[in-house]
Amino acid sequence: MRIAVVGSGYVGLVTGACFADLGHEVTLVDNDEQKLSALRAGEMPIHERFLPELIGRHRWNRIRFSGDLKTAARECEAVFIAVGTPPTDDGEADLSYVESVAREISGAVDRYKVVVEKSTVPVYTSQWIRTVIIRNGANPSAFDIASNPEFLREGTAVTDFLYPDRIVVGVESEKCAGVLREVYAPLTSGEYYTRADAIPRPDRAQIPPRLIVTSTQSAELIKHASNAFLAMKISFINAVASICESVGANVQQVCEGIGADSRIGPRFLNPGIGYGGSCFPKDLMAFRAVAKECGYDFRLLDEVIRINEDQRHRFLKKVRSVLWTLRGKQVGVLGLAFKGGTDDIRESPAILLVQDLLREGCRVCAYDPAAMERAKEVLPSSVDYVADPYEAATGADALLILTEWEEFSSLDLARVRGLLKYPLVIDGRNLYHPTQMTEQGLSYYSVGRPAALAENSKAGMREDKRERA
Ligand code: UGA
Repeated sequence: MRIAVVGSGYVGLVTGACFADLGHEVTLVDNDEQKLSALRAGEMPIHERFLPELIGRHRWNRIRFSGDLKTAARECEAVFIAVGTPPTDDGEADLSYVESVAREISGAVDRYKVVVEKSTVPVYTSQWIRTVIIRNGANPSAFDIASNPEFLREGTAVTDFLYPDRIVVGVESEKCAGVLREVYAPLTSGEYYTRADAIPRPDRAQIPPRLIVTSTQSAELIKHASNAFLAMKISFINAVASICESVGANVQQVCEGIGADSRIGPRFLNPGIGYGGSCFPKDLMAFRAVAKECGYDFRLLDEVIRINEDQRHRFLKKVRSVLWTLRGKQVGVLGLAFKGGTDDIRESPAILLVQDLLREGCRVCAYDPAAMERAKEVLPSSVDYVADPYEAATGADALLILTEWEEFSSLDLARVRGLLKYPLVIDGRNLYHPTQMTEQGLSYYSVGRPAALAENSKAGMREDKRERA
């Protein structure tokens, strides 16, 4: 099938590359000529596993890059809109990019095609797209609008696309559903998974995926409600972690206990320094705004957001409680991205924490496997960026783990112990078992679990207490 994907950001690029891998002819459209030239030259604007491989595979045959939306839309059977929907000052989604794409597509509707919203948009956006296309002269019976939300996580977006838990298509007609069924047929029939060159299957993936057909409004709501529910799960466990800290319980054990209930499930129950990224914070605000406009005061979402912000402040308080005063202290920071596996720092709690630490007078030595270049654009120049986790630990008063990168969970702890000025590790992502740390002579502070003190520091604490007494 010939498909145009409009917007070569993170969603558009992954979607286009995966459609090409399914066998479709894809035109990736963007109005940023510089970006297009870079993509044509094989450069990758984002850090995403398997994406360079897929673009490399199809760059010369099944994927074309174009600045000409009208021609791309005219030539294809389905146009996927994947442009940005950034938040406005009052938290609503700015739909002006979506509208301008719809306006331009209207001149290209000369035979039946499906216009699919892939960007995360509020409910009823599909109806607006239809209205705009008709207002600009298209024949109402020559096209259908569909909503096909994405559930891609940054860092695993390619495998999330090719091995989805479900594919949701919101449609207005059976004809339109037929087009989308055909688009995803290589996945739903299982054919893709028999290929020798298929992207490897992740452990948990159930194949073939289920295609869920709904109305467009339902599909639009499924996207917002899914993200809001996941964020709520994270805030819930963060709140439970705070109680664990007060009563001396272990949140990991609590999670095991509640996650074993199949109605709750164990995933997205990792406490930490709060969620970030370009999706949850923005989508929660947008969903809140949508609800308000519909006359529903969705206060639960306010609380989810409040707990999330509070979690960062609680972590900073923990750093203070371990180091006492912060002015002049040197801290090693592991992780700047909003989560592991990506170079994205948008709404990253790690970045916000580094800013807090700097404000309090700390000297920060930071390391991130992928996000340092982006971090340099937003953090003050006083931050020292180093080449690896061990350099970040060298001479530091404490080592802080702020992003759940896999490589941070397998550090040579004896080496870390030898490099730190004091053997203190404060982990905002619970990457280690506390006894693992104390066995290496490190005192370890994590989220929702009792502090684990190294033998020598226990003695130090006792002496301190005696001295104070
Ligand atoms: C999220 C959703 O997971 C995707 O399904 C969705 O398609 C995407 O938003 C989107 O709307 O485009 P993403 O933002 O890439 O994906 O990242 P997640 O893996 O969901 O993590 C979000 C944040 O939550 C990160 O800061 C992460 O560190 C944090 N998190 C996640 C936790 O603190 N605890 C957890 O248990 C899981």
